[in-house]
Amino acid sequence: MSTDQNKFQAIISHCKEYGFVFPSSEIYDGLSAVYDYGQYGSELKKNIKDYWWKSMTQLHENIVGIDAAIFMHPTTWKASGHVDNFSDPMIDNKDSKKRYRVDHLIEAYAETLPEAEGNAVLARMDELLKENDFAGLKTLIEEKKISCTVSGTSNWTDVRQFNLMFSTQLGSVTDEASEIYLRPETAQGIFVNFLNVQKTGRMKVPFGIAQIGKAFRNEIVARQFIFRMREFEQMEMQFFVRPGTQKEWYEKWKEERMQWHLSLGTDPSKYRFKDHVKLAHYADAAVDIEFDFPIGFKEVEGIHSRTDFDLKQHQEYSKKKLQYFDTEINQNYVPYVIETSIGLDRMFLLTICNAYEEQDLSTPEKEDSRVVMKFPAKLAPIKLAVFPLTKKDGLPEVARLLVDSCKPYFHCFYEEKDAIGRRYRRQDAIGTPFCVTVDHQTKEDGTVTIRYRDTMEQERVPLTEVKNIVLSKIM
Ligand code: GAP
Repeated sequence: MSTDQNKFQAIISHCKEYGFVFPSSEIYDGLSAVYDYGQYGSELKKNIKDYWWKSMTQLHENIVGIDAAIFMHPTTWKASGHVDNFSDPMIDNKDSKKRYRVDHLIEAYAETLPEAEGNAVLARMDELLKENDFAGLKTLIEEKKISCTVSGTSNWTDVRQFNLMFSTQLGSVTDEASEIYLRPETAQGIFVNFLNVQKTGRMKVPFGIAQIGKAFRNEIVARQFIFRMREFEQMEMQFFVRPGTQKEWYEKWKEERMQWHLSLGTDPSKYRFKDHVKLAHYADAAVDIEFDFPIGFKEVEGIHSRTDFDLKQHQEYSKKKLQYFDTEINQNYVPYVIETSIGLDRMFLLTICNAYEEQDLSTPEKEDSRVVMKFPAKLAPIKLAVFPLTKKDGLPEVARLLVDSCKPYFHCFYEEKDAIGRRYRRQDAIGTPFCVTVDHQTKEDGTVTIRYRDTMEQERVPLTEVKNIVLSKIM
């Protein structure tokens, strides 16, 4: 199976070197599977969030957003099934004591095989997972002589289930009753507010509630940089529909979410759908949108037909009615739900991987190269960099005036140090789509040189046009 570990490692180094992503609390040697976003990373992340939020809420009259708390009443997680079901089959290596998620262990092994053979192993694993056949999974691991990366042995325990929720205590008294969980998905904050939003917003089914927020999972095998983290962010939308129409809405959201991804200009061949083999306890249909990362095709987003499971469960546990009166058919019912759930950090990683390009620009006379982040202009952390050619002759003042006139509209960057070529390269590395140089000619005829990141082409344009040129590409 074709993966490009070297490229992935180069991307991770680039993220650190250019202020996108740092290991958490690095001065203390970091914290496993926890990361911090740096000055450019947090801008990029915010731009992705805004793009999703706008497309969900502003562009859909029947979808509104909320911001629910991370802590929720502990019964929420009993009702949702997470206390009893939110677990993964794990296996421990008896020699190294290292614990693996069974599917990850087998997937990593399958990646080392020729494609057809790897696919056969994965198909067998999917079948066993679907049947919850833990003994069969262990047999598969033993049969294939899959070994632990630390001890190198195949001395395995039985396969067991481990819950992935983090728990903590509310208040100062430590007893069982005060135990609460850090939410493992944002969706439940939407379900418990379903009637609040429907009533106060006078929403009519079909309608949606969107939310962006942190989620926490005690992932046992957290690896591959920010792909699988213990603290991460989700962008979720629950769409409430009339029972019986869920199939139609599921297909519609599947298509709409794929179009959202493609609207960022990504090559469609880098995306694919993958139906779930083993459905979560709440779903009657589910599909992943997968992206071709350098580490292979992996899930970025899930679209789930969650039936009326969650609302019915909350109704039962809270003893409060969570029903909707549909005036068109004169009926009370618990709506069915289609969920779209995308990991913000995974979308960030996708955007970084898709943008990263190493280019050899050597000529017979000179060796040259650059790393360029070809972000869609609307997602780029910095939109415009402005450089005075020299630090004198009044050029910095003109450049500063340009920055001042543009910065209320988009993020600008001003720099006067080093040769222009080196300044361009630094902006390429953080993905700035437009660089403008103010030179002596600017003072004579009011024009500047604008340089385009992807083509490296340059042209002279009126200084007064710069703001509109940038705005036209980022709106
Ligand atoms: N509410 C449904 C739900 O949470 P999920 O498939 O478990 O479904 C949805 O998660 C998305 O959240 C995934 O497609 C992925 O992008 C992201 N995600 C899940 N676990 C993650 C983790 N440990 N680190 C980063 N992102 C994660």
